[in-house]
Amino acid sequence: MSNNTKDSKDYSKYFDMSGAKVIREDEQGKIIRVNGRDIHIVSQPSYKDEKRRGKEEIQVHYETGIPDELKDLGRGKTYNITTYGCQMNEHDTEVIRGMLEAMGYTGTEDRNSADVILLNTCAIRENAEDKVFGELGHLKHLKLEKPSLILGVCGCMSQEESVVSRIMQKHAFVDLIFGTHNIHRLPHLLKDAYFSKEMVVEVWSKEGDIIENLPKKREGMKGWVNIMYGCDKFCTYCIVPYTRGKERSRRPQDVLAEIRDLARQGFQEITLLGQNVNAYGKDFEDLNYSFADLLADVHKIDIPRIRFTTSHPRDFDDPLIDVLAKRGNLVEHIHLPVQSGSTEVLKKMSRKYSREHYLELVRKIKQAIPDVVLTTDIIVGFPGETEAQFEETMSLVREVRYDSAYTFIYSPRAGTPAAEMEDNVPAEVKRARLARLNELLNEIGRERNEELRGRLVEVLVEGESKTNAEMLSGRTRTNKLVHFQGDVALTGQRVEVRITEPQTWVLKGELVHAPERANAG
Ligand code: SAH
Ligand code: SF4
Ligand code: F3S
Repeated sequence: MSNNTKDSKDYSKYFDMSGAKVIREDEQGKIIRVNGRDIHIVSQPSYKDEKRRGKEEIQVHYETGIPDELKDLGRGKTYNITTYGCQMNEHDTEVIRGMLEAMGYTGTEDRNSADVILLNTCAIRENAEDKVFGELGHLKHLKLEKPSLILGVCGCMSQEESVVSRIMQKHAFVDLIFGTHNIHRLPHLLKDAYFSKEMVVEVWSKEGDIIENLPKKREGMKGWVNIMYGCDKFCTYCIVPYTRGKERSRRPQDVLAEIRDLARQGFQEITLLGQNVNAYGKDFEDLNYSFADLLADVHKIDIPRIRFTTSHPRDFDDPLIDVLAKRGNLVEHIHLPVQSGSTEVLKKMSRKYSREHYLELVRKIKQAIPDVVLTTDIIVGFPGETEAQFEETMSLVREVRYDSAYTFIYSPRAGTPAAEMEDNVPAEVKRARLARLNELLNEIGRERNEELRGRLVEVLVEGESKTNAEMLSGRTRTNKLVHFQGDVALTGQRVEVRITEPQTWVLKGELVHAPERANAG
């Protein structure tokens, strides 16, 4: 049995809160005492409720701003947020920043001086969680030195029953826990945390409705736009359907208005976000409007680049391929997580497609968009994965020829079906498979980059390279990193670069053509 499995089972000891003493109950929830610390539980997560998918219709609420009485709560105070996990979380952090700044707070990089510290957490794998618990250990000292500090935990880990119990028992110095469905409640929760001596816990198990018009603090020239929330796929290894709730799409007019607004502000690139963007619109009862329809409308907006993440191979249909083949601002890069090359393993993962179906989809995409760049996610060492099944993943990678991939060793997540599956693959075998897979991916990625030698590519300039101030750094339409010499005034512009030295992780090139505006400036 692998170490991971053992650790995950150990979490069960944190479930038991039966020893906690209830001090008071009112309409605001209950106050319990755990190890001498009072905790105000307004609501806490439950795996059982998070699994449930109700039929009730999703309502859209249009927020009108921070209530007057909370607008000054942060005046003269600073906040610091650390974000873990995926773009969904990064974007939630932008909303949190937007709300905090609307309350008068200003951001700071310096934790020692911050009045509010938030950890926006990720639950996808055990090592993501370990990082957060480690961080809490460091923050304890800060909190002891400065009792007025408000220390909050939010994001996907807060949606986990086992994590909330563990924090209540072992990290009682935390002041505030809130989840992914009630971010908009932050101003009120902060007020509660200031005025009470208790730890405040408000995590909704059932997803809330869709909240529009929350302030967002974006930076740079690239913006994320949520098109949908949640996931109904329930892949057997994955915690996301529990932490993010059921699939619910934002209304097309709200999404399009947000993108048009970003275009007006000069944003150069938009990434449409959802755990499973191909399911966009399937939940509309009054409207027949799919992800392909949304892309067709976004295609007409004057913004240079549109990306999206993540596409589930199962719902990737022909209308979607047809619209992507129009190109324009729809870039020729598709992130298409395969997870495994073995139909048997895919079945155990409940991915709902076979190896053959995936390869057929790839064939169709390549036919419609011959220069497409495909990237993927792969899990090795799923419970019971045999050597032959792993070899099927290797052969699929050789066949598709991905430009790059995120690869992971399977990590059991408490509450998911796969965590209960028997796992007879030793940890060292999993690690060896991961190393072999990465070696193959690097080799293919390098070959793919080599194909660009001498070619012209469009690069969106992001600024000076982090590793070499002499060089500018930017990304191609296919999201490849390019370094070249040029004037830093080109930042934010799209320029033409000839690739002279392709490497595994970066393409080096020479500036060929810059827009007039930049040359003049
Ligand atoms: N919605 C996306 C994935 C989001 S999670 C999709 O379905 O494609 C990002 C990646 O993390 C997944 O694609 C998967 O490869 C990996 N992942 C998810 N759960 C995992 C687990 N329990 N162990 C290891 N990797 C996991
Ligand atoms: Fe997780 Fe599967 Fe949903 Fe992706 S589609 S978030 S892997 S359950
Ligand atoms: Fe992590 Fe939650 Fe994203 S679990 S990967 S932050 S949806």
